[in-house]
Amino acid sequence: MANNKKTAVITGGAQGIGLCHVKEFLKSGYNVACADPDKEAGIEMMKALKAGKKLFYSDCDVSSEKEAIKFIGSAIRKFNGIDVLINNAGIGINKPVTELTLKEWNRVIGVNLTSAFLCAKHSAKHLEKSGGVIINTASTRAIMSEKNTEAYSATKGGILALTHALAVSLGPKIRVNSISPGWIEVSDWKKKKDFKIPVHSEADKSQHPAGRVGTPYDISKLALFLASEDAGFITGQNFVVDGGMTKKMIYV
Ligand SMILES: NC(=O)c1ccc[n+]([C@@H]2O[C@H](COP(=O)([O-])OP(=O)(O)OC[C@H]3O[C@@H](n4cnc5c(N)ncnc54)[C@H](O)[C@@H]3O)[C@@H](O)[C@H]2O)c1
Repeated sequence: MANNKKTAVITGGAQGIGLCHVKEFLKSGYNVACADPDKEAGIEMMKALKAGKKLFYSDCDVSSEKEAIKFIGSAIRKFNGIDVLINNAGIGINKPVTELTLKEWNRVIGVNLTSAFLCAKHSAKHLEKSGGVIINTASTRAIMSEKNTEAYSATKGGILALTHALAVSLGPKIRVNSISPGWIEVSDWKKKKDFKIPVHSEADKSQHPAGRVGTPYDISKLALFLASEDAGFITGQNFVVDGGMTKKMIYV
């Protein structure tokens, strides 16, 4: 047993925005349980964060119900409860819809949407005990699109609806919200093999009224607020964090 502080369960936490969530929640005193099937990234994360017993890593694929049950059960045994569930795991397979196979469609639905249902389902009774919080990860692509992103966009639209449905079903004990990131640069939050220093053009920056591309911290800071008691009257909502990109009309 690690200690009696609060516990956050974070899916897809070995890289990108999820890794920033892991780091920031640890820094705020949470115990963290992180699921990510990329073992190479998971091992690098454990070495880099040096969080000892406060961080539990599993190579769980959260789109599998069997694996999700096992992961959440292990987190409960290790930390004695769950206070926050962050459904962050996500993938994209972008192809013309006429070439996208059913297997590819189902994989994207499984990782991005079904996993959020499974983790919510199997954490609910524990979150009820703690008066806990679920934070889902949608995207601005739930409300706007580039070509050839049908599967990804559909999952993110699904997350918006799953969020308000869960908030109504699981309230008042559990609050449920989603964050819709816009363009968040994660190339410097990847495992060593894939790490890149980001370079953004003036056009990339000026596409955002905020004057820059987003960073994972922009998302984690909001997640910490939504997890806190200060957000006690906020549930069933979606928060767009995109530097204003979706509010800017562009005529080329
Ligand atoms: N980066 C952006 O610009 C952006 C924008 C909008 C939404 N999002 C969403 O934010 C979330 C994180 O995105 P990111 O850019 O940090 O991605 P990322 O690819 O950098 O990291 C995602 C992590 O999830 C893990 N993962 C993949 N499948 C998994 C599974 N089945 N079970 C558990 N973990 C799994 C991966 O191994 C990886 O470590 C995703 O849901 C994504 O859709 C990202």
